[in-house]
Amino acid sequence: MKEETTKDIATTVMERCDLLGNISEESDALTRPFGSQAMREVNKIVSGWMRDAGMTVRQDAIRNLIGRYEGDGEETLVLGSHLDTVRDAGKYDGILGVMIALSCVQRLHDRSERLPFSIEVVGFADEEGLRFGTTFLGSSVYAGSFDRERLKLQDHSGTNLWDAVRDFGGEPDALEKSVQGRGDLIGYCEVHIEQGPVLEEYDLPVGVVTGIQGQSRIRTHFSGKAGHAGTVPMANRKDALCAAAEFVLEVETACKVQPGAVATVGEISVQPGAVNVIPGEAELSLDLRHRDDAVRESLRDHFEHRAAEIARSRGCEYRWQVRQETPAVPSDPDLTALLGRAVEGAGLPVIRVPSGAGHDAAQMASLAPVAMLFVRCEEGISHNPAESVTKEDVGVAAETMARFIQLMAEK
Ligand code: GLV
Ligand code: MN
Ligand code: MN
Repeated sequence: MKEETTKDIATTVMERCDLLGNISEESDALTRPFGSQAMREVNKIVSGWMRDAGMTVRQDAIRNLIGRYEGDGEETLVLGSHLDTVRDAGKYDGILGVMIALSCVQRLHDRSERLPFSIEVVGFADEEGLRFGTTFLGSSVYAGSFDRERLKLQDHSGTNLWDAVRDFGGEPDALEKSVQGRGDLIGYCEVHIEQGPVLEEYDLPVGVVTGIQGQSRIRTHFSGKAGHAGTVPMANRKDALCAAAEFVLEVETACKVQPGAVATVGEISVQPGAVNVIPGEAELSLDLRHRDDAVRESLRDHFEHRAAEIARSRGCEYRWQVRQETPAVPSDPDLTALLGRAVEGAGLPVIRVPSGAGHDAAQMASLAPVAMLFVRCEEGISHNPAESVTKEDVGVAAETMARFIQLMAEK
């Protein structure tokens, strides 16, 4: 019987991340949005690895990829993360968690070991929300918290989510039904790169997550009046981009003086978009986060109020659409304590780290107790092709997860 060493496991995980990191919608960058051909390819490859690890494989109504390793009892432990990426992404955000989960099952399968519970490894179909400006589409479907209203959202080419799900082979009208009859879940545990600098500061390979901060995702649109860049006097202009610019700086200024608040305008599009035409339309995304939901909600309301004032003062109109809001989610204390014991088993101190980034665990918390293990990444860099982890740290994370699963089995 084959028994992989920790080093072999880490090598396999790294090689798989490299391989999946080349499957992209763009030739010179890693960009893998929901429903893309690249997602289809990745799902096909990962399905094969799941089958090799002794799992049966299915895809649910939004095409989350689910591998199931049967145990002896009725209960199920869920492990996983997401397989989609942001634009020009690194190769570990999301993918690493799925690959480490897979390695844990492979290890059980190699030893012909059955646990008192089944394990499901999930590769969520959309966490980043690159295409529809949302987040957690995949895990919200798995957790049964999907909101039907989102089916009307459109991507940049005007395709709505209903059509995108159907084109991807999913069932748009069944997205709310996924969890019927799922009383069997005993927990969800996700491994993820830290995407921040704390573990590097402590010089530790892994840390346990205390909770995930809440977020709002908003689209706002300023409408002014397009006109000739050479003839319309400055005082007579209704420049939508100038309104948008004022709004962006308002967001930055307000968050700088509100401890713990972070907000980002990451997308902006301007119409008609020509060098000698005054911008008539400007559309922006806004991503706003805080660990305290009340603070986030009050900032959100303040920003809407300011968007209205800015538009009025410039003779423009504005529209405001809250695309999604997710409350802050604490990790489950019992499951997190067990994960801490697994870290100690590797001879390491347990460092507790809050998550500034969103994770599928935030959705899974409505369905099962959740815990997360962070893996150190170089300089905390993420959402950037320079994302980097070491094979040694990946080995520690894989070993910790294997130990966590054993501790769950002994409970
Ligand atoms: C996901 O990476 C998010 O936090 O936006
Ligand atoms: Mn991400
Ligand atoms: Mn992620």
